[in-house]
Amino acid sequence: MPQKAAWVTMSVLAVLVALYALSVALVPGARGRFVVDLVARGSSRAIGHMLFGGIALAFGAFQFSSRIRVHRPRLHRRLGLVYVLMVAVSGVSALLLAPISDGGLTAHYGFGMLAVLWLGTTAAAYTKARSRDYEAHREWMIRSYALCLAAVTLRLYLPASAVAGIPFDDAYPVISWLCWVPNLVAAEWFFVRGGFVRLESAA
Ligand code: HEM
Repeated sequence: MPQKAAWVTMSVLAVLVALYALSVALVPGARGRFVVDLVARGSSRAIGHMLFGGIALAFGAFQFSSRIRVHRPRLHRRLGLVYVLMVAVSGVSALLLAPISDGGLTAHYGFGMLAVLWLGTTAAAYTKARSRDYEAHREWMIRSYALCLAAVTLRLYLPASAVAGIPFDDAYPVISWLCWVPNLVAAEWFFVRGGFVRLESAA
């Protein structure tokens, strides 16, 4: 798929999932049974995770636009700071939700590891920006956002597994890892292939 189409698809999916997360966080009537149960178990952790995670997912998508980065550097910095703060809150609440997630121990570790890496890569990206090492900053932000996109891939794999006839209880523990490991591998592959140059021309 050409770079531009991939970038647009990623942004549209990110915004759609972000809108879903914000609506279930803010409007109790919009919640399906799965979210109602999660909120009953996780209360403020669950709401905080969905609300701030939704904002991080939506804001993060715009950070890859070179138009904003080059022509509106102050806006890029502000959106970036919002992203980092949202990840901090949503990531810590995700870490607290991991032990009470569905899917048993495999999923607890899958989501727990994802939360730790999301927080770690975002902290590394922020530190690199503060020390003006922008090359490293971009690499760490791409890792961070690849992990953030687990919110999108999880919601693609879940219906796909249902269509394939795989019972939820079998699929969910596998998806708790599958939703992020390939994303991280894809980010590393992107660096190896020298993808920055192509991203610049697409965004
Ligand atoms: C990247 C790190 C993330 C981790 C570790 C994580 C972890 C979790 C966990 C453990 C649950 C509970 C699942 C269960 O009860 O089985 C959950 C649910 C949820 N998360 Fe995340 N999450 C992450 C990112 C995000 C982002 C960026 C969003 C924003 C869109 C998001 C939105 C939601 C929503 C809406 C739910 C409720 C369940 C659903 O509707 O599918 N998460 N998350």
